[in-house]
Amino acid sequence: MISINFSNSKIENDIKNFSKEKMKEIHDVIENKTGLGNEFLGWLTWPEDFNKDEYQKMKEVANKLRQEIDVLLVVGIGGSYLGARAADEMIRGLYPNDKVELIYIGNTISSTYTKQVLDYIADKEFAIANISKSGTTTEPGIAFRVFEKHLIDKKGKEVAKNRIVAVTDKARGALKQLADAEGYQTFTIPDDIGGRFSVFTPVGIFPLLVAGIDTDAMFRGAQKALNDLKSLDNQAYQYAVARYIFHEQKGYKAETLVSYELQMQMFTEWWKQLFGESEGKDGKGLFPTSVVFSTDLHSLGQFIQEGTKNVLFETVIDVKNPTVDLNIPSTEEDLDGLNYLTTKTFHEINATALVGVIDAHSNTGNVPNIILEFDKMDAEMFGYAGYWFMKACAFSGYLLGVNPFNQPGVEVYKENMFKLLKKPGY
Ligand code: PA5
Repeated sequence: MISINFSNSKIENDIKNFSKEKMKEIHDVIENKTGLGNEFLGWLTWPEDFNKDEYQKMKEVANKLRQEIDVLLVVGIGGSYLGARAADEMIRGLYPNDKVELIYIGNTISSTYTKQVLDYIADKEFAIANISKSGTTTEPGIAFRVFEKHLIDKKGKEVAKNRIVAVTDKARGALKQLADAEGYQTFTIPDDIGGRFSVFTPVGIFPLLVAGIDTDAMFRGAQKALNDLKSLDNQAYQYAVARYIFHEQKGYKAETLVSYELQMQMFTEWWKQLFGESEGKDGKGLFPTSVVFSTDLHSLGQFIQEGTKNVLFETVIDVKNPTVDLNIPSTEEDLDGLNYLTTKTFHEINATALVGVIDAHSNTGNVPNIILEFDKMDAEMFGYAGYWFMKACAFSGYLLGVNPFNQPGVEVYKENMFKLLKKPGY
């Protein structure tokens, strides 16, 4: 479902000649769970061994909520919201037909944003999925307080009790205690799966079920990737090797993930967190950035084409089949001179832009391009791509010699905030 093409990468030979022994060593470290952070490798087999009873229960709760609500408020930050949002937008698009809208809160401390969401849902029926592994993160914590109170004030405690779901650790953290005390339904984030690797756990699956997304297909896609990436000779590892060569051998500092579909923008945000938080440590790592073309060809495209060289390379997601396509109407007068395009669809023109831009950037601009062909943008594809990038990320992090599964740098600001806000005990 993903096919990689290195013909514009300028490092084809380096990739072919990369040490097979090194690759085997890293592959074994992952499969035998002997590397740094090995207690967080639960995601490796999760698409096969996820908790089926809990999945069934999630379906029941989600189906019941779908009958009652217009909006699901997804409360969470970082790995506790990016996966669900990436999947929701990739699969349903930005203006879905489905009755239930997902709105994300607790991913910001912006008072204006939070109040505007409060106003937006004033006349709507809503439920809340409060998602936090630690259960102590400030942003979702304070947002939940506001919306929990709003729900109770509006609908009363009994209704609110059935409209609030907590996704958190099985035993630890303030959220688990609060949910148990209030009698809220809880679903569990496994101990051995960290935030940015958790999209196939209840963190991503529960909100996506409420959105009406075919999560069975998503699991099928993830299982397919799991099987395709079991052997040493796989394209996710080749992608990781290419990143390593660019960074460690050629001196590149940044990777830009390019898509040609606005509904993939949050997927690129999810990817940025995955690679940025997993690899950006010990003074190492490619800085992950993203653009959506052709939109950003009219802004950052100039820099990529002619700006500072040997800093960034591009990884281009080439979606072969759009969710829907559109024709361009012809007019009798042809006043705008665009009738020449009416034999082509929007997607055909988008695909032509992709070919022209890759040529411009890699050949004229000398910016290396890796191409990832995606079949489509549905639930199965998200499952496949999500697992594919997670496996590539683990391999890439271990090649770099870092622990891909911790985020000590994130904790620094969290601690500072606790101190500055005078949290008891800090
Ligand atoms: O990937 C990660 O682990 C982080 O981005 C976390 O998901 C994020 O900090 C939110 O943490 P929590 O789920 O504990 O609220």
